[in-house]
Amino acid sequence: MSGLRAIRGEIVHFLGDPADLGADALAHFPDGLLIVRDGLVAELGPAADLLPRLPAGTTVDDYRGKLVLPGFIDTHIHYAQTDIVASYGEQVLAWLEKYTYPTERRFADPAHAAAVAEFFCDELLRNGTTTAMAFATVHPASVDALFAAARKRHMRMIAGKVLMDRNCPDFLRDPADGGDAESKALIERWHGRDRLLYAVTPRFAPTSTPAQMALAGRLFADHPGVYLQSHLAENEREVAWVARLYPEARSYLDVYERYGQLGARSVFAHCVWIDDTDRTRLAATGAAISFCPTSNLFLGSGLFDLDRAHAAGVRVGLGTDVGGGTSFSMLQTLNEAYKVQQLRGQRLPVERGFYLATRGGARSLYLDDRIGSFDTGREADLVVLDPAATPLLARRTAVATTLAERLFALMLLGDDRAVAATWVMGEPAWRRP
Ligand code: GUN
Ligand code: ZN
Repeated sequence: MSGLRAIRGEIVHFLGDPADLGADALAHFPDGLLIVRDGLVAELGPAADLLPRLPAGTTVDDYRGKLVLPGFIDTHIHYAQTDIVASYGEQVLAWLEKYTYPTERRFADPAHAAAVAEFFCDELLRNGTTTAMAFATVHPASVDALFAAARKRHMRMIAGKVLMDRNCPDFLRDPADGGDAESKALIERWHGRDRLLYAVTPRFAPTSTPAQMALAGRLFADHPGVYLQSHLAENEREVAWVARLYPEARSYLDVYERYGQLGARSVFAHCVWIDDTDRTRLAATGAAISFCPTSNLFLGSGLFDLDRAHAAGVRVGLGTDVGGGTSFSMLQTLNEAYKVQQLRGQRLPVERGFYLATRGGARSLYLDDRIGSFDTGREADLVVLDPAATPLLARRTAVATTLAERLFALMLLGDDRAVAATWVMGEPAWRRP
């Protein structure tokens, strides 16, 4: 981490949720300067004001003509599914059996895990994503591999060992103690080390016995600051299966609540098939939803109701859910989130979209005091977006007259090609060749 350096460009970040604050949520510096000290945001303002005050010799990276935003936050992804992205034909339960479990089996080999983890972290950075909440596999060494790759790049990463001890192949089944000792050792080894945070990771209610569900709840309760991640109500057949496995529960969400898995820092992917009582419980307990539109459409799961979640006061972030999701790009994820809203007869204003990909994601993870904005003292993770990255983007943004129009073009037409650079902790971590 360097002492002092600065980034000049068109700088945009959010002070709060545009759905609540309206136009006041957005801070925009058409010719801005972001000053970074020791990896943290020191100051942000108009370049004309700040440049004359910069100590002589300070390095200024000039991104004029491009947009600078806080690094994207992907609140749900599976690093071990990198190699099965775009696998044909199935909905989630059959897709797990046919593609997911066989590919996750390969992570018993630490060398394979390390190679995929390296590619995965690079791919996140190529897409402007600087923080992810990720599933590893049941193999403890798969968690070591991911955390080691993220640490090398100084990235913020939340991850954990998958827990599953029933309704899964023998080669992915947890040991007799339900993965308790392995999870504790991983928490000890990684949680709070540099920018890394541990997440207790029961895959989903159908693949854990009640005993393992209770154990996961205890791990979550006994380790302050640790996260919990799982899947919830993604697919109608899955919901019906959970009702058969846990007949005593009021709903799928209620299963997680009964086993102590609901609370601040628990994150549930999908939540397509939940009801208003579930939403009320999610909001009241401080749990979060990860909205994964590319996955929900690709796997034919259904249309998430963002407006109802917001109305109930639930924290929501965005997830790619690779490899059920079809892109590492949060721009592509926003593109499909917009279309999900359209199919519901709702809107996703562009400001709200970029909020969800940055500060909103950080808030859903209780990390908005560290990342997701350029507020003073935040970790200086950022993405530089090029509104002229492709011929079509260049043509479309040339006739755009407002910031919102240019951001919307990036959200609909952009992907990894639109990412000119990604910075982590105030240092360039990836630059487009
Ligand atoms: N439900 C349980 N496991 C998974 C998974 O790996 N991906 C998705 N999309 N849904 C799941
Ligand atoms: Zn998932």
